[in-house]
Amino acid sequence: MRRILVTGGAGFIGSHFVRRLLREHPEYEVTNIDKLTYAGSRDNLRDVEGDPRYRFVQGDICDRPLVEELVSQADAIVSLAAETHVDRSLLEADDFIRTDVHGTYVLLCAAREQGIERFVYVSTDEVYGAVPEGYSSSEMDPLRPRNPYAASKAAADMLCLAFFASYDLPVVVSRGANTMGPCQYPEKMIPLFVTNALRDEPLPLYGDGRQVRDWLFVEDHCEALDLLLHEGTPGEAYNIAADNYRHNIQVAEAILELLGKPRSLIRHVADRPGHDRRYSLDWSKIRALGWSPRQGFDEALAKTVAWYGDNEWWWQKARSGDYQDYYQRQYGWRLEAAARQEGEG
Ligand code: NAD
Ligand code: DAU
Repeated sequence: MRRILVTGGAGFIGSHFVRRLLREHPEYEVTNIDKLTYAGSRDNLRDVEGDPRYRFVQGDICDRPLVEELVSQADAIVSLAAETHVDRSLLEADDFIRTDVHGTYVLLCAAREQGIERFVYVSTDEVYGAVPEGYSSSEMDPLRPRNPYAASKAAADMLCLAFFASYDLPVVVSRGANTMGPCQYPEKMIPLFVTNALRDEPLPLYGDGRQVRDWLFVEDHCEALDLLLHEGTPGEAYNIAADNYRHNIQVAEAILELLGKPRSLIRHVADRPGHDRRYSLDWSKIRALGWSPRQGFDEALAKTVAWYGDNEWWWQKARSGDYQDYYQRQYGWRLEAAARQEGEG
């Protein structure tokens, strides 16, 4: 295995993963196909652009001829390309079905035709749906996605495993927990709250803020994907998590504390429909392969917050243009309603 095709490598996790491949495997050649949607940017990999082992191709994973050509030049595929934001999927899911489901199918067909050595599909813990207190999902559990994003990922996850069962395609599926770190588009909770706090704007916390997420640092997530690329058993899924459980309100408070901003910036707003209360993964299977996370919650959050503090040019650019329309659509009425309630109370 020497030629790796990464999809979605201009996004958050993908850019860290491409950088890791080039750093940890000097003999590898990496091709990154990315459509450069609002969530992807070549800025995320400027430091490796001049590396002769790296090639960027702007393209869509639904473009069958392009995908066939790139797959014919690869030994292995790691697929991260996706529409990834739950709130956007609740507003309009067309692109999620197109990219996450059909795009993955196009990649699988090309991989099968070319006899690819390994296909790592980056799925998510959201495929299990909400998990009750006291329980952690195992890879054998049924998939019960509860929002359009999660459903599109579950469909692709199952397609991948079906291609192993039906055609012996050497697929490995990862199901990772909530990830934080540099270069995450500021629509997701942590970068949104950090950049809002830096601008002294309210932090829109959904509902009571007592939902639970398990936070993984992006470098740890990428180390796990690297391991699965080389050591994962074909036909198997692997949970990736860190046991860094926090209520969302605790995350918001920790961000404000790190930035020296007042707690009064927190605004309880109308909840996300179908909001999964808790995710929790049993990740003993990947631990048995020799992986465990290196970063605890506090360290990971401090590094993340510091990066946004030092890279205002990056997030100001991300928050310009269409972002403002999305922000207004998602938060305008929520923040107005919260302000009205505060005035009445
Ligand atoms: P992201 O939104 O930051 O990046 C997605 C990338 O995919 C972008 O660069 C975008 O341009 C590209 N893309 C979108 N549609 C495409 C298409 N049709 N063809 C080619 N490229 C396309 O996402 P992320 O947070 O880095 O997530 C990467 C993967 O990891 C996703 O598959 C996601 O479901 C999964 N995941 C994310 C998390 C998390 O917390 N961020 C956790 C678990 C799993
Ligand atoms: O769990 C893995 C998933 O994590 C990935 O598969 C997704 O691609 C990624 O977007 C992320 O999904 P979440 O919905 O969990 O992440 P998000 O950052 O959007 O939300 C985290 C929590 O914060 C969730 O409980 C909703 C809450 N939240 C989010 C936003 C954007 C708020 O309270 N307010 C907000 O404005």
